[in-house]
Amino acid sequence: MKKSNILVTGGAGFIGSHIVDLLIDDGHEVIVVDNLSSGNENNLNKRARLFKLDIQDAGLEQIFREERPEYVIHQAAQIDVRHSVADPIYDASVNILGTLNILQNCIAYNIKKVVFASSGGAIYGEQQSFPASESHPFQPISPYGIAKLTVEHYLFYYMTVHELNYTALRYANVYGPRQDPFGEAGVVAVFTKKMLDGEQTVINGDGEQTRDFVYVEDVARANVLALRNNTHEKAFNIGTGIETSIKQLFDLLRNIIDPSIKKEHGPRKAGEQLRSVLDCAKAKDKLHWTCETSIENGLNKTVEYFRSIN
Ligand SMILES: NC(=O)c1ccc[n+]([C@@H]2O[C@H](COP(=O)([O-])OP(=O)(O)OC[C@H]3O[C@@H](n4cnc5c(N)ncnc54)[C@H](O)[C@@H]3O)[C@@H](O)[C@H]2O)c1
Repeated sequence: MKKSNILVTGGAGFIGSHIVDLLIDDGHEVIVVDNLSSGNENNLNKRARLFKLDIQDAGLEQIFREERPEYVIHQAAQIDVRHSVADPIYDASVNILGTLNILQNCIAYNIKKVVFASSGGAIYGEQQSFPASESHPFQPISPYGIAKLTVEHYLFYYMTVHELNYTALRYANVYGPRQDPFGEAGVVAVFTKKMLDGEQTVINGDGEQTRDFVYVEDVARANVLALRNNTHEKAFNIGTGIETSIKQLFDLLRNIIDPSIKKEHGPRKAGEQLRSVLDCAKAKDKLHWTCETSIENGLNKTVEYFRSIN
C-alpha cells in the first residue's frame, strides 16, 4: 500500500499499539487519538504523534482538519463488558456517540477507509452453531455487544448514504504483550501476571467454558490487510477457529511458568458466556489473513513479555 497518513484511535492501548508499530514499520505516518484512560504512553511507538483527547470531544474536528488523515483505524473504546452492564449510558457515550463523532469527521474530511474493532464473542452472544461464521444470528447479551453491533449498522449506513468505505473486524479473544493484567477482559494477562507473582489463580466455575484465543500481532496484521480490502465483504471474524477451555489455558500457562502451581476453582460468574469460537474462513479467502501464531507460541511470547516488565 502507498505510504499514507493514518489515524489510529486507541493507539496507546493493547491492540492499537501493535497496529501502530506495524504501520510505522511499513513506512506510514501515524497519528494517535487516545485519552489514555486504559492505554499507556509507554506502549506507544516513539515515531507516532499522540493527541491526548477523548473521542467524544468536539476538538477532534481540528485534528482531522489540520492533520488530514487518509485512513482511520478505530480501536478506542470502553472495553469492559461488566462495566457496560453497570453503566450502559457511559458505554454508549464512548462506544456509540464517540464513534459517531469520528464517523462524522470521516465523511466531512473524505476519509478513504475506516477499519473498526468489533467483537465476535460479544455480538453473536451465546452461540447456536460452532464455530460461528459472520452470518451467525446477532444476540448480544451486554450493552458492550449492543454498542459494537450498533456501530456496524451505522457503518453500513455511512457507506450506503455517504460512500464511506469500511471494514469491521470481529475479534475473538485477543491476548499478548501489553494487555492490561488488571482489567476484566484479558484472562491470559490476568493468569500470567498472577502466576508470575506467585498469587493464587482462580478459575471461575468448572473451567469448561471455552474461548477462541488469537495472538495480538496476528490481529494487528489483520487491520493492516483490511486497509486494502476492496471486496464487497465488510465484516470479518478474526480468530483461530480453535476452542480452548479456561482449564486448558491454565494448564498451558502453568507448564510454561511453573508446573507445581495448584489449580483452584471459584464460583461461576453469573452471565458468563459458555462457548465462543469463530469461523475465520472468510478472512482467509478475502483478506488473505490467517492466525499464524499457535497458542503455545503466543503464550510463550506473552509470558516472556510479562517476565521482562515484572
Ligand atoms: N482485547 C480483546 O480481546 C478484544 C476483543 C474484541 C474487541 N476488542 C476491541 O478492540 C479495541 C481495542 O481493545 P484493547 O483490548 O486494545 O483495549 P485497550 O483498553 O488496551 O485499548 C483501548 C484504548 O482506547 C483508549 N480509549 C478508551 N476510551 C477512550 C475515549 N473515550 N477517547 C479516547 N481514547 C479512549 C484507551 O486509553 C486505550 O488506549 C476495542 O475497541 C475493543 O472493544 C478487543
